[in-house]
Amino acid sequence: MNGGIGNLLTPQRLFEVTNTVALVAWIVLVVFPGRRFVSSVLCAIIVPGLLAACYAAIIGWKLASGGPPPEDLMTLAGLRAAFADDWVFAAAWTHYLVFDMVVGAWIARDAVRLGIPWPLRSVALVLTFLAGPVGFLIHLVTRAALRRAVAIDDAAASQRVSVFPDDPCRAVAADPVFRVMEAANEWPPCPSEDLLEPEVRHMITRIRGHTMVTFPRLVSLIDQVRQCEARGIPGAFVECGVWKGGCMGLMALANLRYGTARRDLHLFDAFTEICEPDEAIDGNRAVQEVRDWTHGVGGTAGRLKPLSGFYDAFGGPGTLEENRMLLERHIQYDASRIHYHKGWFQDTLPEDAAGVGAIAILRLDGDWYASTKTCLEHLYEQVVPSGFVIIDDYDTYDGCRKAVEEFLATRGLRVRLHRVDADCRYWVKG
Ligand SMILES: C[S@@+](CC[C@H](N)C(=O)[O-])C[C@H]1O[C@@H](n2cnc3c(N)ncnc32)[C@H](O)[C@@H]1O
Repeated sequence: MNGGIGNLLTPQRLFEVTNTVALVAWIVLVVFPGRRFVSSVLCAIIVPGLLAACYAAIIGWKLASGGPPPEDLMTLAGLRAAFADDWVFAAAWTHYLVFDMVVGAWIARDAVRLGIPWPLRSVALVLTFLAGPVGFLIHLVTRAALRRAVAIDDAAASQRVSVFPDDPCRAVAADPVFRVMEAANEWPPCPSEDLLEPEVRHMITRIRGHTMVTFPRLVSLIDQVRQCEARGIPGAFVECGVWKGGCMGLMALANLRYGTARRDLHLFDAFTEICEPDEAIDGNRAVQEVRDWTHGVGGTAGRLKPLSGFYDAFGGPGTLEENRMLLERHIQYDASRIHYHKGWFQDTLPEDAAGVGAIAILRLDGDWYASTKTCLEHLYEQVVPSGFVIIDDYDTYDGCRKAVEEFLATRGLRVRLHRVDADCRYWVKG
């Protein structure tokens, strides 16, 4: 590299440029690990890709112009000799920059997904930048500790399930899935993960990356499908608020396993970011989450407008294509029985509800007051006697609970609200 470019581009200059680019990208990654563009595009593809291109160009040029024979590189002395060339040394440094950044981007995505607190994830990221493997190791230890804590928490949540003498779930005590728990004289429906039958664990594992729903709720959902199949409760499985389709995938898997015939599956969702809550009715938690998760830019006026960034920390909004892939490609459920209703509930339900027909399980997971109320008003009539109505966020958001209470009160309905875990409730239609 002599002449014009050769004078401009020296190993020292290359080192400075690649280092500066990497440093800026790392700062952005440490400060905004939850931004999808940063952790999935900028620091996972664009910057490492550019640096990799520099590396490939230099190594290619060096090899083409008679670099050290490969066998030299198999000895420390040979390596030292190769790195004595400043171009090779600068390229080797770029090699580090590329791989450290790809690992850093993965750590950022993983840490945000698992909810690792920002000081811990920042330490892991900074150390990955400064001393690659140390930061990586710290992240692995943190995530292992956190997963253990979550498993313990799930098990504890299962102990909080309140049981009524005539709880329909009592029927499952004799079922093989819960045999172990019965023998241990502990109450189902949510044993800890290692006590579940392998087939139940397997079903949950298959959809877990597609749902934000807690473990007790998933176990309970399988049980509800089993009961529908075992007791011949007719009707479709309907979920309003499917996100990436995990719960619907689980109902499909349970139907394939325990049912003799396929059911219609109805998926209602905007398949974009969630709409705004109404701060006057949905409560502090909803408002706080909008503030935190949209970095202060999301509205809380109850408008039917996607809240950009709301699901960034969970891997983005659920798309119709992701749902289709899960249900039709991975689970291979009969596509002719799957019905996607794309749009705001307020727009799709008035048009589509009647076509849904009888409902065996109505699962409402739209979080806010208006979403929950709209779904109940349009679909509840179609839930068959002994069918299940599940309210995922009954105790999470004030508005969700209020929607249910108002709906029941207006219709003079008295139902027994069963707890699944701290937030989720369900009732069986009388
Ligand atoms: C909490 S997520 C659902 C989680 C999902 N059930 C799972 O298994 O992880 C809420 C979903 O409801 C959707 N949603 C909420 N309100 C809605 C509305 N009014 N119309 C359409 N979709 C809505 C959001 O877009 C989002 O996909």
